[in-house]
Amino acid sequence: VRVPPPQNEPILAHAPGSPERASLQAALERMASERIDIPILIGGKHVRSHKTDTVRMPHRHSHVLATVNEADASHVQQAIQVALEAKDEWARMPFAERAAIFLRAAELLATKYRPLLNASTMLGQSKTAHQAEIDAACEAIDFLRYNVHFAQQILSEQPVSSAQTWNMLDYRPLDGFVFAVAPFNFTSIAMNLSVAPALMGNVVLFKPSTTAALSNWYMMELLREAGLPDGVINMLPGDGPTVGNPALASPHLGGIHFTGSTPTFQGMWRTVGENIARYKQYPRLVGETGGKDFIFAHASAADDLDALATAIVRGGYEYQGQKCSAASRVYVPESLWPRLKPRLQEMIAELRMGDITDFRNFMGAVIDEKSFKRTSSYIEMAKHGGSEAAILAGGETDRSEGWFVRPTLVQVTNPRHRILQEEIFAPVVGLYVYPDAQFEEALRECDECATYALTGAVFARDRKAISRMMHALRHTAGNFYINDKPTGAVVGQQPFGGSRASGTNDKAGSLLNLVRWTSPRTIKENF
Ligand code: ALA
Repeated sequence: VRVPPPQNEPILAHAPGSPERASLQAALERMASERIDIPILIGGKHVRSHKTDTVRMPHRHSHVLATVNEADASHVQQAIQVALEAKDEWARMPFAERAAIFLRAAELLATKYRPLLNASTMLGQSKTAHQAEIDAACEAIDFLRYNVHFAQQILSEQPVSSAQTWNMLDYRPLDGFVFAVAPFNFTSIAMNLSVAPALMGNVVLFKPSTTAALSNWYMMELLREAGLPDGVINMLPGDGPTVGNPALASPHLGGIHFTGSTPTFQGMWRTVGENIARYKQYPRLVGETGGKDFIFAHASAADDLDALATAIVRGGYEYQGQKCSAASRVYVPESLWPRLKPRLQEMIAELRMGDITDFRNFMGAVIDEKSFKRTSSYIEMAKHGGSEAAILAGGETDRSEGWFVRPTLVQVTNPRHRILQEEIFAPVVGLYVYPDAQFEEALRECDECATYALTGAVFARDRKAISRMMHALRHTAGNFYINDKPTGAVVGQQPFGGSRASGTNDKAGSLLNLVRWTSPRTIKENF
């Protein structure tokens, strides 16, 4: 029996006077006035460590929101042991029962936990209420519900049998544990990284990003309340190599489910290579890494300049440009530029930035001092870029209360400028104006300029131009948008992931990802 596909969770507006606004306000006020001590979670037990770190609000960095207990190698060893002990019972639990736990988690998130997940994502990760809602509420709920649907599709995929012979695929979990490593920028990604392997019967060591530890901790609380047995997902906050190295050195490593930077994933891949003879199996390596995502406009988009400008502004600056899918390089033909330029400058100048608890703000702060400094250095480079770079909007930074960077647009004259090539992960967008007659050359530049291939968008009305761009940029983006911004993939609608230096392209939000967390056994029985 197939249940119908779930519906995507509706986005709540949090309008003034609405009940959801009142619960969110209450959660924000409570969280801002307490300082939670986030434990290490091993086998359902809260473990404290002699080493702690702090979680601060990026938009008010003097405010310590929480402390985090950091795991060391012995915690990792304990977690591996506890996870492996929990594994048999978890894997033997009928799929329908495992599924029920995650469906119950989705329902709890949609109701009781929604304000908690939203508020902690707003305060800890500096997301506006809307950006938190589409991430920590809607996308997280969608992952939970759709993963069950995808898993059902996988389980129903069975070989042909006959009257004398019964053939079947037994969808076993991987032999070992899965190491899930999450980024700061999406609470929902942290959810999917740990939950997708668990749904397929695996046990998980989950390393959150310290800056997102508060929302990720509430996520653990939610899963516990939904009935997830102790030891199935164990949370190990802490320093990357300190937590990662012992996990990667274990013979029981069954797979890595990673979202984060390209150098970190490449480092983990190298470590796995060095350890390859120790493992009981070849670990599954699934990673979504960096991006240098493009918007490429064709001259036939002349009647769509408002849509194009909106895509650049929303794609480039929502959540301070810190989505892996964020538009960070734009290609515009000369014929469109005189009308597009003032429109863009006007829109960017109007963007409100500040404390995200002021619901009128469109942007908060970048995540931490490291990001602030790195972004500032790119802005300085643009300011002193001579004839090669000019700042058309933004360029101001302010670190006095929070890590604030004004949305910045930089026009470059060299199509291989560093601002078009390197991932900055901040609200800095590079823009290159190409002569209309050099459409083909500009497409080639767009394809060859960056090593990444995560998302990209093209704007055009001319069907031949659309076809040409789809073909010329076929390897330049794993998520390709036509006449839309390159952010905002919806679970079940736009499976998400990129190739080249952007990852292994095991499409999150589709059965292609779920299938990586199973190691099927073929069974034949003669009657
Ligand atoms: N799912 C997120 C987006 O598409 C990463 O923007």
